[in-house]
Amino acid sequence: MASSAKNCIILVALFLFSISSSSAFPMGKKQRPKPCKELVLYFHDIIYNGNNAGNATSAIVAAPHGANLTILAPQFHFGNIAVFDDPITLDNNLHSKPVGRAQGLYIYDTKNTFTAWLGFSFSLNYTAYKGTINFIGADPILVKARDISVVGGTGDFFMHRGVATIVTDAFEGEVYFRLRVDIKFYECW
Ligand SMILES: *[C@@H]1O[C@H](CO)[C@@H](O)[C@H](O)[C@H]1NC(C)=O
Ligand SMILES: *[C@@H]1O[C@H](CO)[C@@H](O)[C@H](O)[C@H]1NC(C)=O
Ligand SMILES: *[C@@H]1O[C@H](CO)[C@@H](O)[C@H](O)[C@H]1NC(C)=O
Repeated sequence: MASSAKNCIILVALFLFSISSSSAFPMGKKQRPKPCKELVLYFHDIIYNGNNAGNATSAIVAAPHGANLTILAPQFHFGNIAVFDDPITLDNNLHSKPVGRAQGLYIYDTKNTFTAWLGFSFSLNYTAYKGTINFIGADPILVKARDISVVGGTGDFFMHRGVATIVTDAFEGEVYFRLRVDIKFYECW
């Protein structure tokens, strides 16, 4: 009896550890407060590759010397900057009716692994929410779940702040990726 209780405690501890270690930088010892609002949304990025001008939603606007604006640069794309205007959907289907646009940029900023720096806004305009949410942060792309800052908002997100957990939900070559964004606000108004 005592030993099965002990096993149970170990299992719970392992479970809690696996939850807390699922992001690149878990929150440390303090317990996270309960979010005052949570939204899960998807956005879809189709990178221009020279022959998909019709449906591309992002463009490489800067490249390091020797690279070009059609193909992401070698050496972990370091030095590329892409500007995007991506549809946001409630589910993971690119062809679902968009509920807004994800607009901003990502900068590949590490020379020895894949990371990006993100600065973008969600402009939402659907029955549930109207307003903008503004995101900033370092994105260690290869980590399964990465947290970036939600620095503010407007409209239905007036004076909101929080953290968004980003998961790469699909990745097809160098042309399409889909991100799942779990936005947790810890300050609402
Ligand atoms: C973009 O358009 C091309 C040609 O119209 C099509 O083959 C491709 O599947 C489209 N890509 C996406 C991600 O919809
Ligand atoms: C861009 O660079 C890639 C890789 O170096 C090369 O294959 C491609 O032809 C270049 N495209 C243009 C338009 O210069
Ligand atoms: C939101 O959508 C409505 C209805 O389609 C449209 O009239 C309005 O201009 C949109 N607002 C913004 C800020 O895009």
